Amino acid sequence: MSEYIDYSSKVPQRTLTDGTKIPGIGLGTFGSDKYGSEAVSEAVYGAIKSGYRLIDCASVYMNEHEIGAVLKRLFDEGAVKRDDLFITSKVWNDQHRHIEEACRKSISDLGLKNVDLYFLHWPFPNYHAPHCDGDSRNPDSKPFSVDEFMDSWRQCEHLVDIGLAKHIAMSNMTIPKLDAVLPLCRIKPAAIEMELHPAFQQKELFDYVVSRGIQPIGFCPIGSPSRPDRDKTPDDISDVEQPSIKAAAAAHDLHPAVICLKWAVQRGQIPIPFSVKQPQYVSNLKASFEDPLTDKEMAAIEADDRNCRLVKGQVFLWPGAHGWEDLWDLDGTITE
Ligand SMILES: NC(=O)c1ccc[n+]([C@@H]2O[C@H](COP(=O)([O-])OP(=O)(O)OC[C@H]3O[C@@H](n4cnc5c(N)ncnc54)[C@H](OP(=O)(O)O)[C@@H]3O)[C@@H](O)[C@H]2O)c1
Repeated sequence: MSEYIDYSSKVPQRTLTDGTKIPGIGLGTFGSDKYGSEAVSEAVYGAIKSGYRLIDCASVYMNEHEIGAVLKRLFDEGAVKRDDLFITSKVWNDQHRHIEEACRKSISDLGLKNVDLYFLHWPFPNYHAPHCDGDSRNPDSKPFSVDEFMDSWRQCEHLVDIGLAKHIAMSNMTIPKLDAVLPLCRIKPAAIEMELHPAFQQKELFDYVVSRGIQPIGFCPIGSPSRPDRDKTPDDISDVEQPSIKAAAAAHDLHPAVICLKWAVQRGQIPIPFSVKQPQYVSNLKASFEDPLTDKEMAAIEADDRNCRLVKGQVFLWPGAHGWEDLWDLDGTITE
């Protein structure tokens, strides 16, 4: 497979609160330890030729420069116009006091004049080196602070004011943290990126976000089967082996991964599946507009939620923290 068919006109669109359209599915670009920046950027090239218009980037994925090169190639070839793309980027935790500088660097690497959506990747400035061991801890890490977060968010609001970001967004948030910061925002987040897959549906957070007009974007939509071993635990559930997913896959004669994406799109979140393989990313895109799941299949998947968080974030814990649960405010208050 190397010929491209452009499916962009078939992909469903969602609408942000200001009326801006955003594609109902995008391409993730985090290659984990498995795929290098060249493989990921070539996938971005092929994915855009196939009709993807939303590309989820981040400085910490260490491939924005290479993605910028393929965007230029696509613009030079006349394959797509800048305004038809929806490009996101994210500030990494060690840049929270220098957000304009970090955003300018991402924009320059991507070869753009602005990004469509700029995220605070994590809600605290706790830094760990990319690829570090899951048990490593930074002694400078601190619990969530509303003041520190709002200082970072004010810098994000400034990005909108000066035209570097069309919209701004948050990621890896919880309801207690959102309760604390949303009333303080001059510019509300257009979207919240959160872990969402059939075995981790986060119904309460999902409903909270939707009821406030914020668009949920779901990461690890297939359950991140290729994540590094250091991010796996014995209790992790494999989404593609869930009974409801396997049953729908058999009924539709599709890979279970594609069923996970159909569920996501039909539920209303924007999934951002990662793939460097053309047959995979094309079938993932087609999942958004072909052969929908029945109400019964949707209900069976909803009933199969296993509350299985995969990205636990333990490397961001501060000295004195009990465990990864502290990052997620499980008792309904911000953990200090
Ligand atoms: N905001 C955040 O903090 C955050 C955190 C994590 C991720 N993200 C974003 O979310 C994106 C997606 O998450 P993810 O990459 O961890 O996981 P994912 O999209 O759930 O899983 C990707 C893997 O699924 C397999 N796959 C994809 N399509 C398939 C298909 N049609 N059939 C069979 N297998 C298929 C591939 O495995 P093989 O390569 O082995 O075939 C691929 O590497 C990331 O790339 C990143 O952009 C954001």
